[in-house]
Amino acid sequence: MEHSLIIDSIWHLRQMTQKCWIFLLFIVFCVVIVAENTVSDEAAALKAVADGFQNKPGSWNGFDPCGSVWLGIKCTNYHITSIILPSVGVTGTLAGDIGNLPELLFLDLSYNPDLGGSLPASIGKLHKLKNLILLGCGFSGQIPPELGNLQHLTILDLNYNKLSGPIPPSLGNLSSLYWFDITENEISGTIPISDGINPGLDMLRRTEHFHFGGNKLSGNIPPELFHSGMVMEHLICNNNNFTGSIPSTLNLVPSLEALRLDGNKLTGPVPTTINSLTSMKELYLSNNLLTGPLPNLTGMNALDYVDLSNNSFDVSDVPPWFSSLPSLTTLLLEHSQVQGGIPAGLFSFSPLQTVQLKNNLLNGTLEIDSGYSTQLRLVDLQTNDIADFRNNGNYNKTIILADNPVCRHGSNENYCAARTKNNSPYSTPNSCSGIDCPSEQALSPNCFCSYPYEGILYFRLLTVSNFQNSTYYQDLEKKILSTLQVRKVPVDSVAVHDPFMDASNYLEISVEVFPSGKAKFDQGDIVLIASFFSNQTSDIFDYFTLYNFIPKPYIPILEGSSSKSSNTAAIVGASAGGVVALLVIIGLVIFVMIRKKGKAKKMEQSYPFGSWDPSKRSGSVPQLKGARCFSFEELKKCTDNFSEPNHIGSGGYGKVYKGTLLDGQMVAVKRAQEDSMQGGHEFKNEIELLTRVHHRNLVNLVGFCFDQGEQMLVYEYLPNGTLRESLSGMSGIRLDWKKRLWIALDAARGLSYLHFLADPPIVHRDIKSNNILLDNHLHAKVADFGLSKPMTNDRKGHVTTQVKGTMGYLDPEYYMTQQLTEKSDVYSFGVLLLELITARKPIERNKYIVREVKSAIDKKTELYGLEQLVDSTIGLSNTLAGFNRFVDLALMCVGESGADRPTMSEVVKEIENIMQLAGINPNAESASTSASYGDSSFTLRGHLYSNEALMNYSGAIPSSRSDTK
Ligand SMILES: *[C@@H]1O[C@H](CO)[C@@H](O)[C@H](O)[C@H]1NC(C)=O
Ligand SMILES: *[C@@H]1O[C@H](CO)[C@@H](O)[C@H](O)[C@H]1NC(C)=O
Repeated sequence: MEHSLIIDSIWHLRQMTQKCWIFLLFIVFCVVIVAENTVSDEAAALKAVADGFQNKPGSWNGFDPCGSVWLGIKCTNYHITSIILPSVGVTGTLAGDIGNLPELLFLDLSYNPDLGGSLPASIGKLHKLKNLILLGCGFSGQIPPELGNLQHLTILDLNYNKLSGPIPPSLGNLSSLYWFDITENEISGTIPISDGINPGLDMLRRTEHFHFGGNKLSGNIPPELFHSGMVMEHLICNNNNFTGSIPSTLNLVPSLEALRLDGNKLTGPVPTTINSLTSMKELYLSNNLLTGPLPNLTGMNALDYVDLSNNSFDVSDVPPWFSSLPSLTTLLLEHSQVQGGIPAGLFSFSPLQTVQLKNNLLNGTLEIDSGYSTQLRLVDLQTNDIADFRNNGNYNKTIILADNPVCRHGSNENYCAARTKNNSPYSTPNSCSGIDCPSEQALSPNCFCSYPYEGILYFRLLTVSNFQNSTYYQDLEKKILSTLQVRKVPVDSVAVHDPFMDASNYLEISVEVFPSGKAKFDQGDIVLIASFFSNQTSDIFDYFTLYNFIPKPYIPILEGSSSKSSNTAAIVGASAGGVVALLVIIGLVIFVMIRKKGKAKKMEQSYPFGSWDPSKRSGSVPQLKGARCFSFEELKKCTDNFSEPNHIGSGGYGKVYKGTLLDGQMVAVKRAQEDSMQGGHEFKNEIELLTRVHHRNLVNLVGFCFDQGEQMLVYEYLPNGTLRESLSGMSGIRLDWKKRLWIALDAARGLSYLHFLADPPIVHRDIKSNNILLDNHLHAKVADFGLSKPMTNDRKGHVTTQVKGTMGYLDPEYYMTQQLTEKSDVYSFGVLLLELITARKPIERNKYIVREVKSAIDKKTELYGLEQLVDSTIGLSNTLAGFNRFVDLALMCVGESGADRPTMSEVVKEIENIMQLAGINPNAESASTSASYGDSSFTLRGHLYSNEALMNYSGAIPSSRSDTK
C-alpha cells in the first residue's frame, strides 16, 4: 500500500517533470529561434534595401541575413555591421531604409555603375559608420548635408559618380575623417569655410587626404583652408574651375606631400614661401594662368615630380634649383618662357628621368656630358632656339631637337625627329605559344584560358616618369597578386598592359586578374577582389600612387540560391506536433545554428581587412594565427637592450638575439638591419606566410615587431644551436649515427611539409646545416624562411626567380635555368645528407663534397669505400646500419636533373626505411616526442602533421600541387 503510493507519487512526479521538461524545451527552442535571428528591424531594413536593388545577389534570400550566409553581409551579435558588395552588378537605387541599420560600420557598394539615383539622406543616421565607399557607382544629385552627422566616418569615397551641387559645409563636422574623396563628379560651387556659425572644410583637422580633382569647383582656393592645426598630406584639386591666386597660407601646412592644382584658372604669382614645404613630393601647377617669376623651389628636397608647364611666368633663365633637387625624377616645364643657354651638368642628378622643356626660348649649344643621370630617358627641347648639339657623353636615349636651328637645314639626325610614337608600351609577357582561347576568354601569363576580371587603374600621382621601365609594372603585378593571395582569392596571375598618360595627366593601366582552378571567378571572389581595389587607402604600390580602379562589368559564376538555409517558419509549424518532432527539430535547429555560426566565422575570415584602421598608413595589421605583435620596447627589454652577450648570430639580414619573454619563454629575435628591410607590405606578407606554416620540424614563429621603424621576427629559441655547430664540434655535442638519422628524418619531414602541405606550397631555397636547428632532445627543426618562395604563380610547379641560396648547396640546374622548383630544395638536402656523414662543409679547401663523394665511391666495398671521408665522430667501430642506402639516397638527391631527384616525401619514406634497418622505429619515437612537445601533432600513416596542416590541406585551393606527387 505504502509502496504503491510511493510508486504512484513517483509516477505523478515524473509526469509533471516531463511536462515541465517539454515546456522548458519549448522555451529554449523559442529563445534559440529569437537569438539566432538578426534583430528584426535590421532584417526588415536590409530587405527593403534589397527590394530597391533590381537584381540582388543570388544568396540574398531566406529568412535571416545574419543566420544564413548572405553575400557581403557581416553581423556582430546579430546586428548587421558590414555591407560589402562591390562589383556584383546590383542595379536600381539605394533605399532610405539603409538608415535603419544603426550598428553598420562599413558600407561598400562600389563598382555597381547602374546603382544610381540620389544618395539617401538617411545615411546620416548611421552614427557608427566608419567607411562609406561608393566608388564608381551611378549616384547623382547632391551630397546630402546629413552626412556631416557621421562622427566616426574615416573614409568617404564618393569618387567616379555623377554627383552635382555644392560640397555641403556640414561635412566640416566629420571630425574623424581621414580620407575625403569626391574625385570625378560634377560637384560645383566653392570650398566651404567655417565662419563661426556655419561649419567648413577648414575644420577637418584629422583629414590627410583631400581629393577633389575632376569636378566643377570654382572660386578661389580659400586661404582659410590652411592652418597649423591641419595634418593635410594630399590636396588634389586638378581639373576644376578654380580662380584667384594660390594662397600664401599654404606654408602653414608643412605636412603637405602632394599638391595638384593643375588644370584650373589660377592667376597671380606662386607664393614665394612655397619652398618651405619640404615634405612635398609631387607638385603639379601646370595649365593655369600663373604669372610672376618662375617659383623658386630651392630646398624642396623631397620633390620627385614637378610640372609647371603652360602658365604665363616671366621670362627667366633655366632655374638653378633644377640641378640641386636630389630626388627629382621628372621636370615638366613646357611653354614657360625659359630662355638662355643650357648650363653644363644640368642633367647630372642621378634619379633624373625626364626633362620636358618644349616651347621655350633656350638658345646656344646643348652639351650632354658623360656625367648625365643613368636613368635619363627623355630630354625634349622641341621648338627652342638651339643652334648646336654636342653629345660628349654618348647619350643614347631619346632627345628631341626638332624645330630648333640645329635641325632647320634638313638634318636627318635622329634627334631632329619630333617624336612620333612611343616605343611599344608594356604588356605582361607570357611564353605560351599555339594556345587559342575560346572567344571572350583570355590567355593568362601562365598560359591558361579563362575569364579575367579586368579594368583600368588610374594613378593620379607619379613619382617616376620612365614608362618604358618594366620594373614598375612588374611591381604592380606582384603587389596585386600577393595581396589577393593573402586574401585567399583563387588567383592564377595578374597581367597589366598598355600604360599611357591621359588628358588629365593620370596614368592609365589596364589590369587583368585571372582565376585559378576555374574558368570564372564566383561572386564571392569578385567581392574580395573588388573590395581590395575599392579601398584605395591601402597604398601598396611603390612607384605610382593614389589609384582608382574602375572595372569592367563581370558576370561571375552564380552561386545557386542556397537551399541549405532552412525555412524556419515551417519548422515552427511542425513543432506543434508532438514531443518527438520537437526534439528532432531542436536538434536540427542547433545543428543548423552551429553550421551557420561556422559559416559566418569563415565569412569573417575571408574579409581579413574589413575593419582595417586606416589612420595607420603603413598597411594593415597582419592577419595572424597565434603570432603576437610585440612592441619595440618589449623586445628591447627581453633582449636586455640587444646586448652583446645575447647576440647569438648574424647574417645578411641583420642580427639574431636571444631573449626571455615576461612569461619565461626563451625566444630568438631576428632584427633586420636598416638596409635589408623590406617594405611594410612584404614584411607583412612574410609574417602571414610564416604564421600559416606550423609543423614540429619547422621553427615556430612566436611573433613579430613592426614598430619604430624596426622589423623583427621572434622565433622559438632552440638551445642546441645549429647543425653546423654540432658537426664542426664547436658546440661540444657529439652526434652518433642514430642521432644523425633522426636529424635527417626531422629535416626531411619539415621540408616535405613545406612542399606538400603548406598552402601555398613553399620552396625553402636555403636548406643548409646553418639553417637546421637542434632542440633539447637533438631533434631538428628547419629555420629561416627568409628566401622562401610560395609556389603560387604557376601551376606547372615552377617560378622564375632571381637565383638565391648558398654556394655549395645551390642546385646547378636552378642556377642555370633560373627555374625554381621544389627539386632545388631536394638538391640542397642531398648536400646536407653528405654533410651529415662527412661533417665537411659543402665546399672546403676548394673541394666540392658532391664531387668528392662521387669520385671516391666504390660500391663493391663496405661503406662504399668512403672510410676516409666519413666523420670519425660517428663512431666507425659500430656498424653503420643502412649507411650505403643513406649514401645512395644522398646521391639521388643531388642528381643532375631535377626530374630524376626524388620528392621530399619519397626521401622521408626512404629515411624511415633506413632507420628501421638501423633498428629505430621512426614513428614510435616521434609520437612520444611529439606528445612531450605538447603541440597538437599526431601521427598519420607514419607522418606527423599538425592539425592545422591537415586543415589547410583539406581546405586547400587547387594549386600547384596537382603535379607534385
Ligand atoms: C568656370 O567659371 C567661370 C566664372 O568663374 C564660368 O563662367 C564658367 O562657366 C565656369 N566653367 C565651368 C566649366 O563650370
Ligand atoms: C631661391 O631660394 C634660395 C633659398 O631660399 C635662395 O638662396 C636663392 O637665392 C633663391 N634664388 C633666387 C633666384 O631667388
